[in-house]
Amino acid sequence: MTAALFALADRVACVTGASSGIGRAIAGAFARAGAAVVGVARREAKLRDWVAESEAAGGRAAACALDLADGSAVAGAAARLSAPFGAPDILVNAAGINLRESADAVTPESWQETLEINLSVPFFLARALVPAMRDRGWGRVINIASLQSERAMPNSIAYGASKGGVAQLTRAMAEAWSRDGIACNALAPGFFPTELTAPVFENEAAVARNAAQTCIGRNGRDDDLVGPAIFLASPASDYVTGQVLFVDGGFTAK
Ligand SMILES: NC(=O)c1ccc[n+]([C@@H]2O[C@H](COP(=O)([O-])OP(=O)(O)OC[C@H]3O[C@@H](n4cnc5c(N)ncnc54)[C@H](OP(=O)(O)O)[C@@H]3O)[C@@H](O)[C@H]2O)c1
Repeated sequence: MTAALFALADRVACVTGASSGIGRAIAGAFARAGAAVVGVARREAKLRDWVAESEAAGGRAAACALDLADGSAVAGAAARLSAPFGAPDILVNAAGINLRESADAVTPESWQETLEINLSVPFFLARALVPAMRDRGWGRVINIASLQSERAMPNSIAYGASKGGVAQLTRAMAEAWSRDGIACNALAPGFFPTELTAPVFENEAAVARNAAQTCIGRNGRDDDLVGPAIFLASPASDYVTGQVLFVDGGFTAK
């Protein structure tokens, strides 16, 4: 009974950002949990690495090298993403960027680039994959929000705006698609060491300050997201939609 609630066997998942960090951790965990996983990112070599690692662990994984900044590639992505294992039942929108510019340094181009990858792509990619989920009467969209969906931080005005948008996008997706059996939720990680946060983790004082702000007393580790991601991808969360689940060690509770 409990195992069935959290089962991902026979599911097909698409995870963007699978070449690195949080996306890679979730993509690997889904493959280990029995899903067939299509990983999306630009860097082919890193995707191949993830596929090899997943297959060595007995999982099914396929790489799809795609620049998500290319709008036409996103619009036509459904066929490519469905080619390896069939149409995805689960979409995790984990690709993201933070250009770390001060408010004074942001340009229209850098603003647009951030909003495109972090906010527009999750919507348009989901919309491309929703028809097949709707036909099946079951689906999952999992967005990746942030502490900055709720908190302002330095040198991140475009990123913060995009992540505030992701929280609301998640609720709007739920309103649009939940009646078709498609639950739409977001994970909001605290501070996790990845390529994106390398500049923060190079600063020992900032690492300690962020850890001290949590209730648990430490920053995140990749595996901390695995349970929540499997929960939101599996039948265990059938009546959960439109929610932002903070996986932040209690950072936002204080
Ligand atoms: N790390 C944290 O503490 C933290 C906290 C809160 C939220 N988040 C969010 O978690 C998500 C993952 O971030 P991360 O920390 O794991 O960072 P990361 O290690 O830098 O991973 C970012 C991923 O996005 C992909 N990506 C970026 N631009 C792309 C594009 N144009 N086309 C296709 N793929 C693209 C990258 O792949 P390629 O470079 O190979 O294309 C990479 O796989 C992001 O949405 C981020 O905002 C992270």
